[in-house]
Amino acid sequence: MKNNKLVAPVLKWVGGKRQLLDALRPLLPKEITTYCEPFVGGGALLFQLQPTTAFINDINAELINVYQAIKDDVENLINALQEFKNEENMFYSVRDWDRNKKEYASLSDIKKAARILYLNKTCYNGLFRVNSAGEFNAPFGNHRNPNIVNAPTLRAVSAYFNSADVRLTSIDYAEVLKELPKDAFVYLDPPYDPVSDTSSFTGYAKGGFTRDDQIRLRECCDELNSRGLKFMLSNSATDFIKEQYAAYHITIARAKRAINSDSTKRGEINEVAVRNYK
Ligand SMILES: C[S@@+](CC[C@H](N)C(=O)[O-])C[C@H]1O[C@@H](n2cnc3c(N)ncnc32)[C@H](O)[C@@H]1O
Repeated sequence: MKNNKLVAPVLKWVGGKRQLLDALRPLLPKEITTYCEPFVGGGALLFQLQPTTAFINDINAELINVYQAIKDDVENLINALQEFKNEENMFYSVRDWDRNKKEYASLSDIKKAARILYLNKTCYNGLFRVNSAGEFNAPFGNHRNPNIVNAPTLRAVSAYFNSADVRLTSIDYAEVLKELPKDAFVYLDPPYDPVSDTSSFTGYAKGGFTRDDQIRLRECCDELNSRGLKFMLSNSATDFIKEQYAAYHITIARAKRAINSDSTKRGEINEVAVRNYK
């Protein structure tokens, strides 16, 4: 079946792979039957490939709730989004919904999903950022005309999610990898190893993603390799990462960094694509 070009990321996401798809596509296995992306984020590669069987996961429960709402009830999600306006006061009052935990927990999943989509479109630089209490804390973006209700893309993604066998979870990536069938292809795009103390964003979730986490991930890749599953991993081209994956095929790619709160740090950096197959 020909892929639907309208199926595309619905959220702007730090580390999003849209800019890198041309470099990644030639490195993919010729055939992908079952696809797994345990660090899905904005899902640039997933939405480009539109696999018929997919295990899709992210530790960010709010993000996965957005995908679940798109799958289960996209028309009500679009209706809820239409209530939001690109106004500073409304932005901060909606952003602060999660400050009252009890009230927030009583909101419908559709309302929560609409809030995340709205904040993502109207906040500064589309940066999904949480404070140490796990509360959304990016400032208002003051954009001229943000596309808050992107109905054609939301409906196209909903149609894809409902026409394929897409399983959505929000657990630690290692749990997802344990259950995969042997024919699964795994694309791993974790928070990157910082190229310097100030340049890399790992604040997706509380506690960040440390070098110990990177080592745990490499051990999971070794385990996938020993089970005969194919994987491709993206990360920054630091010496530490190149050492960790020295046993595998490493391809260097140049990628633009569009999202960084410090505009002087946007631009191009070296990335690696690591594969256990040729
Ligand atoms: C670099 S981003 C993925 C970007 C994605 N490929 C895209 O195109 O937008 C990394 C993602 O990993 C998620 N993450 C961080 N720690 C995780 C963990 N232990 N298990 C699963 N997901 C995790 C973050 O929430 C974030 O969405």
